[in-house]
Amino acid sequence: MSDIYEFNGAAGSGWSQPPPMFEGAEKTIPISLRRSKLPEWPRASEPELVRHYTWLSQRNFGIDTGFYPLGSCTMKHNPRVNERIVNLPGIDRIHPLQPEHQIQGLLAIFFEMQEMLEICAGMDQVTLQPVAGAQGEFAAIRCIQEYHRDIGEGHRDKVIVPDSAHGTNPASAAMCGYEVIEIPSGSDGRLDLDALGAAVGDDTAAMMVTNPNTLGIFEPEIAQAAEIVHAAGGQMYYDGANFNAILGKTDPGRMGFDAVHYNLHKTFSQPHGGGGPGSGPIGVKSHLAAYLPAPVADREETEGGGIVGNGFRYFWRTPEKSIGKVQQWHGNAGAVIRSWAFYRRYGRELEKMSEHAVLNANYLRHRIMQGAEGVHAMPLDGAPADVVKHEFTLSMTPLKDAVGVSGKDVAKRLLDYGYMSPTLYFPMIVPECLMIEPTETESKEVLDKFAKDFLTILAEDPEIVTTAPHDTKVRRVDEVLAARSLVLRHPLTD
Ligand SMILES: Cc1ncc(COP(=O)(O)O)c(C=O)c1O
Repeated sequence: MSDIYEFNGAAGSGWSQPPPMFEGAEKTIPISLRRSKLPEWPRASEPELVRHYTWLSQRNFGIDTGFYPLGSCTMKHNPRVNERIVNLPGIDRIHPLQPEHQIQGLLAIFFEMQEMLEICAGMDQVTLQPVAGAQGEFAAIRCIQEYHRDIGEGHRDKVIVPDSAHGTNPASAAMCGYEVIEIPSGSDGRLDLDALGAAVGDDTAAMMVTNPNTLGIFEPEIAQAAEIVHAAGGQMYYDGANFNAILGKTDPGRMGFDAVHYNLHKTFSQPHGGGGPGSGPIGVKSHLAAYLPAPVADREETEGGGIVGNGFRYFWRTPEKSIGKVQQWHGNAGAVIRSWAFYRRYGRELEKMSEHAVLNANYLRHRIMQGAEGVHAMPLDGAPADVVKHEFTLSMTPLKDAVGVSGKDVAKRLLDYGYMSPTLYFPMIVPECLMIEPTETESKEVLDKFAKDFLTILAEDPEIVTTAPHDTKVRRVDEVLAARSLVLRHPLTD
C-alpha cells in the first residue's frame, strides 16, 4: 500500500469538493474542457493525510536512514547546502517558458555546468536535456545514427556491447533500431580484444562501454579497443554511470570515446532512488555536436556587461541538425543546479571524491575477503582483479554450494542488520552476485561495522539466513503468492 488513492479515510473526512461547475464557468471554459463529474480525489482529512505520509516515510529505507551499498546506483549523502541553493527564489520560482532575458542567471548556471562537464569528460559539447542515464544513452546513440547517415554510412546497423554491460545499453541501441552484438568478457572480467576484433566490421555503428566496468574493474586496454572500433568506422560510446571512480584522474575523451552520458544523480548530487529523479546529460566530440538534442545553453559577448555582469548574454540554442527534444523543457533543472552547486563547492578537489570512493571500496572489499577466508574459505570475488575502483562484486556461489545460502538470502538478512541490500544478481556474468558500492561519503567506522555484520551473516545458522528478514516491518514474502494474489491492507484504516 503506497498510494494516497488507496487510502480510505473516515467517511465524510477530507475536503468538500466544489461542484464540477463553478459560477460563471460556462462563460470562460469551453464545453469540451468542462468536467461532467467530480474528480475521484482521495478521501482524507488533514490529520489522516499527515499520518498517511508519515507512516509511509517510516517504512522507507534511504541514504538518510542508513548505509546503502547499492552497487552501480551510487547512493551517497547529498549535501544539504545544495537544497538551499536550488530553493533560492530566483531559481525555484521561475518557469521554463520565461523569456531568456528574465532567466539569465539560470542560463549562466546551465552554461557553466555544460562547460564543467565538457572539461571533466574531455568532450566538446554537452547538452543537459536528458533526465536519466538511459535517456542519455538513447539520445547519444541517435546522434551517432544521424551522423552516420549524414556521412553516407547509414548502412551501419550493429552496436557492440560487452556481456557485463548494464541492461540499458543494449536496450537503448535496440530502441534506435540497431542489432545488438554481445561480446564475452575475458576470464578476468575485462574486455576481450580478440572477441571485439571478431565482432567489428563495416556494419559496426558503435561500441558501448562502461569504464570502470560493472564489476568495478578498470579496462586497461580501452585505448586499443577504441582504435579497433574506430579503424572499422564505428563510434565509441561511454556509459558514464561509473564516472565517480575516475573523475579528475582521467577522462573518456582521452580513452578514445566520441560520446558519453553522465549520471548527475550518481556522480554529482541529487537525492534519488527507485529510478529517479535523475539527470543524464550527454557530451560529444565536435563531429557529433550538431546532432545534440535541443536546447543547449549558449552565450555571446554583449555590450555593457550583460545582466549577469560578466560581459555575456546567455540564450538557448538549437544545434544545427538536432535530433530534436528527448525531454520537455530544458531537462531536470533541479538536478542540474544541485550538481552544479556540488561541483562549484569542490572544484579541483573533486578528484578526492573519486579517490575516497575507490579507497572505501577497496578497504571494504579487503575487510570482507580477509575475514571470509576463515568463515567459509570461499573465493568470494567474482573477478580475480586484485584492485577494484569504486565498487566490487562478490559471488555467493561457494556459500550456496556449501550450506544452501544464496546471494538473495544474504541480501535479505542484511536488512535485519539495518542495511539496504547491495545490488543483487547484477552483473549477470557473476553467479550469485552481490555488488557493493560504499561511496566516498561513508566513514571507516560504518565500513568496519558493515564488514563485521556481513561476515557474521556468512557464519550464521543457514536456517536463519534463508528465512530472513525477521526484523523488518514486512518479513519474507512468498513471492509467487504475492504476485498471484496480492492482499493489501492499510494499517491506518483496518
Ligand atoms: C552502468 C549503468 N549504466 C546506465 C544506467 C542507467 O542510468 P539511469 O538509471 O539514470 O537511467 C545505470 C543505472 O543504474 C547503470 O548502472
